[in-house]
This record gives sequence, C-alpha cells and structure tokens, in this order.
Amino acid sequence: MLERVLSMRRATQFSEEGDDDDEGDESKTKKTSHIAFVTRATNLFSRFGYLWPCLLLCLIILFLIPSLISHSRSIVCVSSYDPTSRLGFFGLDGLESDFGSLGVPWCRSKHGKTVEWTAKDLLKGLEEFVPIYETRPIKNNMYGMGFDHSFGLWFIARWLKPDLMIESGAFKGHSTWVLRQAMPGTPIVSLSPRHPEKYLKKGPAYVDGNCTYFAGKNFVDFGSVDWRVVLKKHGITDLSRVLIFFDDHQNELKRLKQALKAGFRHLVFEDNYDTGTGDHYSLRQICDQFYIRGGGHSCYKDSDEARIRSKRKKFWEKAVDIEELCGPGEAWWGVRGQMRDDFNHSNKAISYAKHFENSRFVESVLNVYWELPPVAGPSLTHQTRYDPARATSPIVEDGRFGLFQRLGLTRFETSVFNGYTQMVYLQISERGS
Ligand SMILES: *[C@@H]1O[C@H](CO)[C@@H](O)[C@H](O)[C@H]1NC(C)=O
Ligand SMILES: *[C@@H]1O[C@H](CO)[C@@H](O)[C@H](O)[C@H]1NC(C)=O
Repeated sequence: MLERVLSMRRATQFSEEGDDDDEGDESKTKKTSHIAFVTRATNLFSRFGYLWPCLLLCLIILFLIPSLISHSRSIVCVSSYDPTSRLGFFGLDGLESDFGSLGVPWCRSKHGKTVEWTAKDLLKGLEEFVPIYETRPIKNNMYGMGFDHSFGLWFIARWLKPDLMIESGAFKGHSTWVLRQAMPGTPIVSLSPRHPEKYLKKGPAYVDGNCTYFAGKNFVDFGSVDWRVVLKKHGITDLSRVLIFFDDHQNELKRLKQALKAGFRHLVFEDNYDTGTGDHYSLRQICDQFYIRGGGHSCYKDSDEARIRSKRKKFWEKAVDIEELCGPGEAWWGVRGQMRDDFNHSNKAISYAKHFENSRFVESVLNVYWELPPVAGPSLTHQTRYDPARATSPIVEDGRFGLFQRLGLTRFETSVFNGYTQMVYLQISERGS
C-alpha cells in the first residue's frame, strides 16, 4: 500500500484522473476571475457612462482570445501522454504487443501441474464480471484493488467454490465484497487491523453480514490465529475446501509457511510485486532466479537489459532501471538485495544463497503457480503504470478493441486498470506429497 502511495504520487503527472481534476480546478478559477472582471466592468460602467465600457469590452475580448487558445493548447499537451504514442516509440503499431519482452519469471511446481481453467473460461468470466463490478459499493478504491485483481479474485473464488473464504487485510472491504459476489452463501473470515466499518463514517465501505471479523480491537495476525478453533466453529474438516486471500503486505514466504503449517492448500496473493519494487518479499521476487526462463538480472550498466530498462522507465511508472534494481554489491534480488516485510517497516539484507534457497523451498511445496494475466493491453485500457514487458499476455490483447468494447470495458475509467501487480494463485502441500 505504501509503495502504491509513493508511486501514485509519481503518477499524478500522467494520471488522466489527475489531469481532469486539474482542468476542472483551472476552469473554476478562470470562471471566477472572469466574473470578477465583469463586476469590475459594470462598476466602471456606472462611473464613466457608455463609451468607456465599449472600449473595455473590446479589451476584454482581446484578452480572452489568447487565454482561451493557451488553455486549449494545454489540453492538447495532456493528450500527448497517450499510450499510443508510447507504443509508437517502441516501434509498435498498437496491434503487436511487447508483453513479456523483459522476462516473466514464475515459480516451478513439483509436478509441473497447472490450473484447470483456460483463456476461454477467463473471457467468459469477464463477460459475467463486468456488470457485477459496475455495482461495486466502493467506486474509487484508491490504494485498493482495481479491476484486474477484482476480476481475478472473483474468478478464482467462483471456480474453486470453497466452503470457507479467509482474507487477511480487508482495508475498506472491497475484497470482501468481491468474495461475496463470487460465493453468495459462503462464510467469510476477515482479519484486518482496522475494521472496515470505521471507513463507513467517512465514505463508501463494505461490511458483510455473514463475515466473522477479527478486526479493530479483535484483530489477530494470520500467523497467530488458532485455526483449528476457527475452522471447527465453521464446521470445516477438509482444509482443501478453504480459500485464503492475502492482501496484507507481509513477506509472502512467511505467509506461505504459516498457511502450510495450518494445512491450507489454496492461496491467493494480491500484491505479487516484481523484483525491485514493492513493500514486501513476494513470490514473483522469490522465483526470479537465473535457472528460470525469464528470471535473473545483470547489473552490468552496458547490458541490453540496462539499455531497455532505462528506455521503458520513461514510459511506465512502475518500471525500474538498472540503478534502481541493483543495490550495493550488485544485489538485484528482492528489492536491492533486501527482503522487505510488513509494509516496508522491516527490511533485511539477504544473501544471494539465501534467496536461492527460498525459491527451492517454495518449489518443494508448490503444486500450482498461476499469475493472473492483465485484463487487456495498454492501447485498450490506457493504463500507464505497470510495464507490459514484465507481464504475461493479457486476456484481451492489444488491437482487439471490438472485444474490449463488447465486454463493456470501455465504460470504466482508466484508473481502474492501473493496479495490476501480478496477482497469483498458489496450490500448496507439504514436501513429498
Ligand atoms: C523502504 O525502507 C527503506 C529503508 O528504511 C527505504 O530506504 C526505502 O525508501 C523504503 N521504500 C519505500 C518504497 O517505502
Ligand atoms: C447468511 O448466510 C445464510 C446462509 O446462506 C443466509 O440464510 C443468511 O440470510 C445470510 N445472512 C446475511 C445477513 O446475509
């Protein structure tokens, strides 16, 4: 979340929403100054009779024309940040995509198993989810999940049909609402330091009627809950019927170990940050290894990677160049050789050997690793934050505007497509099983 706040700040110069606001504000101040002008003119009118006001009116018109021209020019400048010009820069015509061109590392599973669902299932899901998302109670979920991850969570929950859904980190309750849309009759357990009802006082939030909250005064960290007691209370005996959703900005290796210890099998991590970014050690970071296709980095300043990264940084707000990626001693793993945890309140340097060991451990307990693809290409969504070069091909590829429109995705504001951070679904089990 912290990381988001920071990059949001960096993003304002590009964000269309921000520009709209600025324009609104500007026209407001312009309007008031014009009004002041008119009032002053009428005052003069009463003092000097009729000749002067005519001259003044001419002056006003002469003054207004250039100011209007400069105003419309500023609108033209704003639209020159359009992602299509960004695609043009990379020699693409908007139909061809460069998704994955900088590598998309992934975690190897024990037996090479993958998910049951196909691209077709995802498309069908999108068709169903768009009208649902339009009814969301929290319209502007800034710092929370956007469209892509909301869809991913909804799709996974609906596919797995769990008997119990547990979420760690609820914020205003948007994810609780998404889980509820996926499974209308299934109990939810929600752990969150601040109760979502607190946000209700200030604006939109969602509190669920069939959700057990461990929140506010009753907050318990996921790793400290006595899960046997909670599961018994909900009549759960089969732990493979439980879905856990983490959006709590904690070290994902720590969460994975805690979930494994409790016997859970199905996990979703919301913020699966890319190497060099984010406020906690993520699965994507852990599995970014030289022995994985698309994984590993070089801190060599004259490398192709360094050259491409410094170019891409100019166009994608979350892209990092080699200087940002590499910490002291050419440490590129995690975030500059650090394992971050707890909203970046903790960051410890880890050795490359330890980082390597972490990925081998994850592989030893992993049955399935699946990163949600972005919903659509940037020429369609106009998102400007995540770099497609580090993501898998989207569900709706660039150039398929007809499909994008048919799905109803043109009805959403650009900002809902900005939050993609490689949400991941994991299926885990103890070593050797
Ligand atoms: C995270 O913490 C480190 C060390 O305190 C600091 O240097 C860094 O700027 C922080 N990053 C973010 C994104 O907050
Ligand atoms: C809770 O779930 C049960 C079982 O599906 C349902 O009968 C009840 O109406 C729900 N209560 C609320 C407040 O949604």
